[in-house]
Amino acid sequence: MGKKIVLAGGSGFLGQSLAQFLIKRNYDVVVLTRGAASTTRDGVRYAHWDGVNLGEWATEIEGCESIVNFTGKSVNCIYTKANKEEILSSRLNSVKVLRDAIHQCSEPPQSFIQAGSLAIFGDTKQECDEEAPHGTGFSVDVCKQWEDEFFRVSFPHTRQVLLRIGFVLGKNGGALEPLKTLVKFNLGGTVGSGKQYISWLHIDDLNHMFLEAIEQDQYDGIYNATGPTPVTNKTFMKTLRDAMGKGWTPPAPTPFVWLGAYIFMRTEPSLALTGRNCIPKKFLDAGFEFKYTDLGTTLSELVS
Ligand SMILES: NC(=O)c1ccc[n+]([C@@H]2O[C@H](COP(=O)([O-])OP(=O)(O)OC[C@H]3O[C@@H](n4cnc5c(N)ncnc54)[C@H](OP(=O)(O)O)[C@@H]3O)[C@@H](O)[C@H]2O)c1
Repeated sequence: MGKKIVLAGGSGFLGQSLAQFLIKRNYDVVVLTRGAASTTRDGVRYAHWDGVNLGEWATEIEGCESIVNFTGKSVNCIYTKANKEEILSSRLNSVKVLRDAIHQCSEPPQSFIQAGSLAIFGDTKQECDEEAPHGTGFSVDVCKQWEDEFFRVSFPHTRQVLLRIGFVLGKNGGALEPLKTLVKFNLGGTVGSGKQYISWLHIDDLNHMFLEAIEQDQYDGIYNATGPTPVTNKTFMKTLRDAMGKGWTPPAPTPFVWLGAYIFMRTEPSLALTGRNCIPKKFLDAGFEFKYTDLGTTLSELVS
């Protein structure tokens, strides 16, 4: 049996991809889920938890190699008071209870890795490396409290790494799916001003970043987990249309985006209208090599 990695909230888009990636590398993968326990699917074992309280699941942490925490209510929703509360509490509670589980281990994990977000930089066109100033607004506040909670307590034997993840492009889910649908129905024009940046990366590159954080002791602290070639929304949408064989499409002005997001997509318009221009400085300094740096090639592969 390989070394065990526990993926908290690993039933979603990023967790499922990392699980298969790790299994191919002979790791033993356990996912903590609010869903059914004691099932094994595609080589992944599922253990039940509630993301808030210690329970039987905590025995999975004993002696494991690493915990990666993906838990969090999706931000892809309308920001009602209740949704905002759940977006924040699901993230903070999972960090706290995983920390409690590590504390009660006699053989604690080597590393505790947290999936965070580049949203901490707010809506900005300035190039952001890890040291760039934070923005303002709800998403920024969530990210700040999330990071503060994660680093509030350190462990004597467990490294803590937080990856601020960008706009992840993959085949089965994630933010690319709704954009593909828009393009398919000839609605994939520039969104709003089109000047907002999309800091994108391919999910395989992200999985390699997680692997580095798991296996390499020098990874410690906060890293921007995004590709080295962010683009504007205007460029992104044109490249996606080209990849899907669609010609010019009229732009979607901001009021249209607000209406479409609230009424048809039942999501927060700011997700499409804001953006950030981030670079993975610390990964590049560490010698990390990206497989996917050209957006056209990447999208062509993913939509084929
Ligand atoms: N995908 C991206 O492009 C991206 C970019 C930046 C940051 N991130 C962050 O990375 C993390 C993982 O992203 P993802 O795309 O894999 O998300 P996802 O598909 O929504 O998966 C998140 C998992 O969290 C669990 N969860 C949801 N609401 C919860 C709640 N209220 N309490 C406890 N657990 C809850 C769910 O697992 P169960 O239902 O099985 O319990 C779900 O499968 C998230 O925190 C996200 O904000 C993602």
